This record gives sequence, structure tokens and C-alpha cells, in this order.
Amino acid sequence: MKLYQELATWWPLLSPHTEYEEEAHLFLKIIQQYHPAVKEALEFGSGGGSNAFYLKKHFSMTLTDLSPDMLEVSRELNPECPHMQGDMRTIEVGRRFDLVFIHDAITYFTDKDDLLAIMKNAKKHLKPDGLLFIMPDEYTETFEPRTDHGGVDKDGRGIRYLEWTYDSDPEDHMLETEYAYVMRDRDGKVTHEHDSMKGGLFSMPEWEELLREAGFQAHFERVVFSDDPRSFFGIAATQPH
Ligand SMILES: C[S@@+](CC[C@H](N)C(=O)[O-])C[C@H]1O[C@@H](n2cnc3c(N)ncnc32)[C@H](O)[C@@H]1O
Repeated sequence: MKLYQELATWWPLLSPHTEYEEEAHLFLKIIQQYHPAVKEALEFGSGGGSNAFYLKKHFSMTLTDLSPDMLEVSRELNPECPHMQGDMRTIEVGRRFDLVFIHDAITYFTDKDDLLAIMKNAKKHLKPDGLLFIMPDEYTETFEPRTDHGGVDKDGRGIRYLEWTYDSDPEDHMLETEYAYVMRDRDGKVTHEHDSMKGGLFSMPEWEELLREAGFQAHFERVVFSDDPRSFFGIAATQPH
């Protein structure tokens, strides 16, 4: 997506980290329920580092992402965290953690083989009692077409966006999202861009089965956001002994 490459410097205005405070604390509650002693965490697809900004107050966070541009945005917000570039299917960080955290970055995978590769790679990076926490945006059971909008002004620049997510073919494992961005730069120049994204759409039993195949037991935990009445579920994936 252009948003994670040439438009990455707009990310903090499109999705300010302050909008992640509530969710980071809801995720933390679930993480601590399944692993009260997390000291070192690894994030796959850490993007602008917004969840990490809040989670790092509770344990160390090592942040990884495919996009060098997004890593640059996150380094600004989280200068004390180690950052590393790599694909979550194959990255090798070289040590093991108490927690692997994957937020909406897993949404970009539409193929079960990719999801399995990510889960197996997470397992490779976990201590034997380590926890994998995944927050998929959508499940087949809960998906509803939707639109969203937002963006803010900061330091003389501003962005507004419209996001439209729909499922054009209920038979496949995919949903589509279209984004329209309007940006006003410091010199007053206004530009607009369009992005398209295909995301994965899998059922809870499909997630459960993939995690079982990778050596995890899945526990679905309801996440209730104060500003969104829809049903969201995080997955705490434990490693049976
Ligand atoms: C919405 S951002 C993640 C937000 C982040 N979890 C946070 O709390 O700020 C999604 C990120 O997923 C990353 N991504 C997409 N595919 C990836 C892959 N194969 N491996 C690693 N990161 C990936 C993108 O580069 C992007 O930065």
C-alpha cells in the first residue's frame, strides 16, 4: 500500500498514536491474563508503533515491519525500542521472547499457507511458555461492510481519509478496502491519493485449526471498544506442554 511506503510520513496524522491508548490497554489485560510475567515482547508488523507506545511501559518491545518507511515513523515515537526490517513470515530476530504480538498487520494475508508460516515463525521466536497474541480485524462470523473516516491537522499539515471495506465475493477468503486520502501540505498545496487493499477473511474455526497445526491452542477473547458497538475478538494462543 502507498500508505506504508511513499505516504508513510502522513501516518501520524491519519492514525495518531493517541487513538490507540484504549485498545492497547484492552490487549494488555488479555495478555496479562494468559501470561502475567511478560518481560520481553516482539511485534510483527509494528507499523507506526502506536500500540508499542503504550505496551512498552509494561515490558520491552522489539519492533519489526516490512516497510523501512513505517519503521522510520515508529523510531520517532519509540526511539528506545530496537527496530528491525523484515517480513513476518520469514524474519529471524535471533532470540526468543515471552510474547509475540501481531495487531492488524495480519489482515494483509489472504492465504492460509502465509498465516501458517507466520504462526510457525512466531513459535520459533517464543520461549516454551511464551504467548502469541493476534488481533485480526475481521472474522467471517463478525464481518459487516463498513466505512470509516478520520485524520487530523498537525504542524501545518493535514490529512483526511475515507475508508470503505466490503466483501465482493462471499465465497473467497478475501475482503476489499478502498481508501481515499486528501492531504494539505505546509505550503497549502492539496493533493489526493487512492489506495486499495485485499485482506484475509477466515472463520474462528479456521484460525483455531491453523494455530493448532502451528503448535498453539487458541483462546478467543472479546474486546469491547467504547466507540464501536461491533464484536471484536483477540486470540491468545498458548503453547500446550
Ligand atoms: C496498520 S500497521 C500496524 C499498526 C501497529 N500494529 C500499531 O500498533 O501501530 C500495518 C503494518 O503491517 C506491515 N506489514 C504488512 N505486511 C507485512 C509483512 N509481510 N511483514 C511485516 N510487516 C508487514 C505494514 O508495513 C504496516 O506497517
